[in-house]
Amino acid sequence: KILILDFGSQYTQLIARRIRELNVYCEIHPFNDFPALDESVKGVILSGSPFSVLDDEAPLPDLTEIRGKKPLLAVCYGAQWLAHNNGGSVAKSSTREYGRANLSFIHDQSPLLKDIPLESQVWMSHGDTIQELPDDVEIICSTPDVKVGGFAFENEQTFGIQFHPEVSHSVDGKILLRNFLVDICGVAQDWTPASFVEETVQILKDQVGNDKVVMGLSGGVDSSVAATLLHKAIGKNLYCIFVDNGLLRKNEFENVLEDYKELGLNIKGVNSSKRFYEKLEGVSDPEEKRKIIGNMFIEVFDDEAHQIEDVTWLGQGTIYPDVIESKSVKGPSATIKSHHNVGGLPDFMKLKVVEPLNTLFKDEVRRVGREMGLPENLLGRHPFPGPGLAIRILGDITEEKVKILQEVDHYFIQGLKDEGLYDDVWQAGAILLPVQSVGVMGDERTYENAVALRAVESIDGMTADWVHLPYEFLARISNKIINNVKGINRVVYDISSKPPATIEWE
Ligand code: XMP
Repeated sequence: KILILDFGSQYTQLIARRIRELNVYCEIHPFNDFPALDESVKGVILSGSPFSVLDDEAPLPDLTEIRGKKPLLAVCYGAQWLAHNNGGSVAKSSTREYGRANLSFIHDQSPLLKDIPLESQVWMSHGDTIQELPDDVEIICSTPDVKVGGFAFENEQTFGIQFHPEVSHSVDGKILLRNFLVDICGVAQDWTPASFVEETVQILKDQVGNDKVVMGLSGGVDSSVAATLLHKAIGKNLYCIFVDNGLLRKNEFENVLEDYKELGLNIKGVNSSKRFYEKLEGVSDPEEKRKIIGNMFIEVFDDEAHQIEDVTWLGQGTIYPDVIESKSVKGPSATIKSHHNVGGLPDFMKLKVVEPLNTLFKDEVRRVGREMGLPENLLGRHPFPGPGLAIRILGDITEEKVKILQEVDHYFIQGLKDEGLYDDVWQAGAILLPVQSVGVMGDERTYENAVALRAVESIDGMTADWVHLPYEFLARISNKIINNVKGINRVVYDISSKPPATIEWE
């Protein structure tokens, strides 16, 4: 495997994803807290950073166990730090070094740059520049503005590059990474979904043995794939629980249960809608609603888990970005997620946690699911928030409002599916607004509710833009909703991006 030492760059995860795309396994660790470099580690990469090496609080790695012992590729901040710390010098740059540039010099003997053509476009993003290099170092590439585009230490497999090979705007970045991984580190490109499944099932068997595992499923991709892996490893000793909180989409509970049963999972559906509605009665503060739903879920889940004798493990669908997030290096640009599914083990459930997906990125989870034959409708499902429709009914929640919103949502989502638009959208849903507006029906004036439709494109939910759905489609959906859903006389489409808006309205 390859270790990536993180200095807090926004691109660190991207380095990992590119490496995985090359079918090589890698792990991200904080620069100041990484595991011992045993035989399994074939090379190390240093990430960029929001800091400058000239900052007082600049992260200072200790590379004594790495330099000269393992091949080392230092990107951006990493490269500057190598120069700075070995007798070279780094200064604030006088010319702009952001955005695209083209390589105007490439050392023809550099194994790192093999097969990369002159003029190849690279992507820069740094405020400092390397002015002087250490003595035992040779320049391996330059751009017209940046003389030290990359460098290599003599007699040592240690490289620094100023640009970001991991971003797609560095057109040949993947060749550079391949050169480093395969030619310099000598790793085999054999990390595939199939090998992951095989390896993970074996690991789970060893880890869990004949113990019992309980796991809450949500219908989402992560928990479904995690459960399928566990099921492959331990079969009927995996006890799955799917809670209907009364805030799911129309027919979702029944449909998802059916899908799970077809997969052979040992699953119990628990209809607790009434318990949730009762607790939510009269509550309109969004955070309060979230808290109530979260606590109630734990209560219901715990009741169910207690009915399984001798259960000792809790299965979770935690994925790698959640893990990285929870132990990441916080730089000035660090983003903080306010809601996520990790950290989930309530104190009173003294179970050990097993997380089969905690080394995978989302797209890899899908590939693994596909490898195991999960149906596309499970794998391609839009994300759906844990509190469900509760945060899409602005204000207080009643069963009747849920029913109305379920109908609206159903026409919208089914319409997206019928017209082949569902997969072009990252997440979609309807929001029931607490406003009544005037309308006419026959000769009468009416006051009925308005709903908003929201469809966004996004990579990870952190930023998003509204999808430019065809007017004709919106017209058809609006008609369907107004003609079929009692209580709704107005439909609007949300055309706000995130930021500054969020995806959900609460
Ligand atoms: P926002 O509204 O913050 O949403 O732009 C970003 C993503 O997070 C989901 N979301 C939640 N997921 N519990 C969840 O499990 C929550 O309380 C919650 N709130 C928002 C939202 O659906 C979107 O995918």
